[in-house]
Amino acid sequence: MSMADLFGDTFSHQRRDEPLDAGAVLLRGFALMEEAVLLPAIDMVVAQAPFRHLVTPGGFRMSVGMTNAGSLGWVSDRRGYRYDPVDPLSSRPWPAMPEIFLRLAGAAAAHAGFVGFVPDACLINRYEPGARLSLHQDRDERDFGQPIVSVSLGIPAVFLFGGMQRADPQIRVPLTHGDVVVWGGPARLRYHGVLPLKPDQHDALGDCRINLTFRRAG
Ligand code: SIN
Ligand code: FE2
Repeated sequence: MSMADLFGDTFSHQRRDEPLDAGAVLLRGFALMEEAVLLPAIDMVVAQAPFRHLVTPGGFRMSVGMTNAGSLGWVSDRRGYRYDPVDPLSSRPWPAMPEIFLRLAGAAAAHAGFVGFVPDACLINRYEPGARLSLHQDRDERDFGQPIVSVSLGIPAVFLFGGMQRADPQIRVPLTHGDVVVWGGPARLRYHGVLPLKPDQHDALGDCRINLTFRRAG
């Protein structure tokens, strides 16, 4: 038996693909194989660029803590939403995208049918119990032909996946540690959000959820 067979076998116990709609798929457990490399890589980024609570253009403090890796980072302040090559806290470039981030995001995108995805931005979101992300579209990127790859780690959350209009009905998708959602093509501009997190504990990440959102922004 080859190594590939061996891993393929291990994989099939935890991994499952669940189509959400045209252009959108949930890859259950896709990030689990790389967990041992992924978690230290996140710690490295956060050591250089700590989580912070950004302010919306309307002046509200976001409940989700955020930081970034890659040549561009998503930021929000009183002036608006944008991508910036510089971390406003340190006035230095964002930490480089770890190799494992690129590999995982590229593999998940390819698995979902988006071959050749090379993200230049990874937004890292930290949710504590009670934190939520209200319904929004990801539309600060230059090329909507590029998909979004979203990796869930830590305690569970309910992802809301809606339509092209804010008022469209949403499906509720429970996400757990290691799950990856990819949306692109006809689904690229669908509204989405995260319900307030319920208190819980995860072996590796304690009482929080970490989400990595990979995008080609520039
Ligand atoms: C996002 O929309 O940026 C994050 C979604 C999530 O945390 O699952
Ligand atoms: Fe988003």
